[in-house]
Amino acid sequence: MRHLLDSTDLTTGEIEQIILRALDIIAHPEQYAEACKGKKLATLFYEPSTRTRLSFTAAMMELGGNVLGFSDARSSSVSKGETVADTVRVVSAFADIIAMRHYKEGAPRVASEFSRIPIINAGDGGHSHPTQTMTDLLTIRRELGRFDHLTVGLCGDLKYGRTVHSLIKAMRRYEGVRFVLIAPHELALPDYMKAELGDAYTEVSTLEEAMPLVDVLYMTRVQQERFADRDEYERLKDSFILDERLMTLAGPNMIVLHPLPRVNEITVGVDNDPRAAYFRQVENGKYIRKAIIYTLLSDDFLHASGPAHPYESGTTACHNDRCIATTEPIEQKHYTDHDGVRRCYYCDHML
Ligand code: NCD
Repeated sequence: MRHLLDSTDLTTGEIEQIILRALDIIAHPEQYAEACKGKKLATLFYEPSTRTRLSFTAAMMELGGNVLGFSDARSSSVSKGETVADTVRVVSAFADIIAMRHYKEGAPRVASEFSRIPIINAGDGGHSHPTQTMTDLLTIRRELGRFDHLTVGLCGDLKYGRTVHSLIKAMRRYEGVRFVLIAPHELALPDYMKAELGDAYTEVSTLEEAMPLVDVLYMTRVQQERFADRDEYERLKDSFILDERLMTLAGPNMIVLHPLPRVNEITVGVDNDPRAAYFRQVENGKYIRKAIIYTLLSDDFLHASGPAHPYESGTTACHNDRCIATTEPIEQKHYTDHDGVRRCYYCDHML
């Protein structure tokens, strides 16, 4: 059974296949109007979402399928204390595919271990968000025509921003891709992600320095809901604001992306700049989700062996309090990364 839990669950060949499928869907939507007729998507959203859930729903409707699920865990049996494992066992009996968003890191991976149907991770805590990454990749392809030899600036909350983590994991596989990191010290990229990047990144402390360097500027919101300390959020929330003056320092063909929702980090004055691609990006989100659902439900894909993620079982407990392994009664699992560091299989944090 194949799932989409992390951007590295797809080979670059499969990413290409899904991008081409999305482009075909954009060109010939009528040919897909009944592609998932009779199939059901369950959207299990334990954390607030507007665009991701609606985008999945619209995608399945346009494929001729149906959608069921919940958008507030308080209205489901979760409020009675049901585990993720039991919830997906039950939902496996009612649907053909699940899109899950959860505030605990690794929750969709746990779900995949108990599910009889494919699981799509629609965002797990501060960890991963692979369908946003596929949206970002489709946008980069449509706007710039390629994934290789690009310099990608990542700005804002690089610590808790799951969209950033997934985008890095996907893009570092293409030749000649470099990253420019722009974040306050307190919201710097986690060490496991820096280890992933090797020497393919530079850190700068201002947007002024970054603007002339980047082909893609990926702006993110400071993730208020992940802060334990409200004062710290208030102090950091407006660290970097992209405005029209900063845009004059960038090249004519660069693009600005943002997974949205935007809070303060891009002024509305930037919206009419042709390089501001974030509203076009939202639309691409629906097309790529159509392509993802279509592909994950196709026999060819389900029977192809995807990239392997070897792990070992152990007794060392994960100390990341945002990890599902600290609350759900599951076996502890770990893997050893390329630097020989043991990491939690569910959330990638160092053990
Ligand atoms: C992002 C998310 O949920 O991580 N939003 C989205 O999926 N479009 C980014 C965010 O919430 O800041």
